[in-house]
Amino acid sequence: MSSEYPQDPGWAEQRGGPDSPIVEATRDWMLMRDGEAHRRLRGLANPVFAARAVRETAPRIAGIVHQIMDDMGGGPDVDLIGSLAAQVPIAVFCGLGGLPVEDSDLCRKWTDALGHVIDPAVDGTTRAAMNDAAREFGAYIAEHLARRRADPRDDILSRLLLAEFDGQKLTDDEVVANVMMFFMGGHETTVNLIGNGMLGLLHHPDQLRALRADPGLVRDGVDELLRYDAPVQFVARITTDDVEIAGTTVPAGSKVMVLLGAANRDPLRYRDPDRLDLSRKDVRPLSFGGGPHYCIGAMLAKTEARLVFTELVSRYRDITLSREDVVWRRQVNIRGLSELRVDLVS
Ligand code: HEM
Repeated sequence: MSSEYPQDPGWAEQRGGPDSPIVEATRDWMLMRDGEAHRRLRGLANPVFAARAVRETAPRIAGIVHQIMDDMGGGPDVDLIGSLAAQVPIAVFCGLGGLPVEDSDLCRKWTDALGHVIDPAVDGTTRAAMNDAAREFGAYIAEHLARRRADPRDDILSRLLLAEFDGQKLTDDEVVANVMMFFMGGHETTVNLIGNGMLGLLHHPDQLRALRADPGLVRDGVDELLRYDAPVQFVARITTDDVEIAGTTVPAGSKVMVLLGAANRDPLRYRDPDRLDLSRKDVRPLSFGGGPHYCIGAMLAKTEARLVFTELVSRYRDITLSREDVVWRRQVNIRGLSELRVDLVS
């Protein structure tokens, strides 16, 4: 099965054609490469997101989370998505990446536009916004990359420039394209891990109480939050040959969608799957996918979410929904809230 959508003329055409800025960028995204080309890109970027590298940066991530929560404050009717969840991933990535944290809003605007590239269907307005973002964000990252080449520091841009794997290095275009991909792949997904996770806890007050009593529960509990309400609902592939799946032959050239969110609630795998239980044992959610394309940012996302949940229960004596009817974003694959209004009591 292949992930190389940019090679599909229909896919490329919907996004602005094979020479459009967005399709050109996606041709260098590891997410959309197969085999050897994928192995090379992944091998070069892996050390940057490895468990050890993320552990070392945890204090810096904690500092960013604390600052955002200081700014958020507390009180009634606080939107936890706008004031917290949507702030953390971009600020963390700018901070660790070597980009000015003050540019977070600008990077978020570009990232939001890029995010639609994985939508099954793209309309004209979205297509134009996504191509503008690919052009402008690409130029912005390239400018910062040139600075890091002249003056390398301890950040993700410098590490990607210096990375070597099998005697090979990344080209500047590959670094620019994949940094865009890291923003795109890491923003809304992590926002939704925080948002969906918090909503799950608010709907299961016993679990929120358990977390407050023992914040260490979040270590493994974050996997249960990912299982309970997956931020990415499916991954998709194109068959390169006829494949037999559970007795049905899927012809070559078909699009196949694997429903991660449904698999996470499989009653044959998890007892009482519709219940959130932070102390559930042997939770291995499929929320980060599987196989060679398993999410490279999984450790980073889990670290951010753990720090956010721990800090929330330590700062606020009580957290309750301000209103019962929450608003979900209208998207097919990425599942998350557009707002989550809560009353925060210090
Ligand atoms: C809760 C947060 C996240 C979720 C649920 C998530 C989900 C996923 C999933 C399902 C895949 C597999 C896609 C496929 O097989 O087609 C994936 C791949 C990927 N993710 Fe994440 N992701 C998250 C956070 C991040 C972060 C923080 C980054 C930033 C570095 C990131 C970067 C990527 C990249 C680059 C890939 C492609 C890896 C490859 O092709 O080898 N993700 N993610």
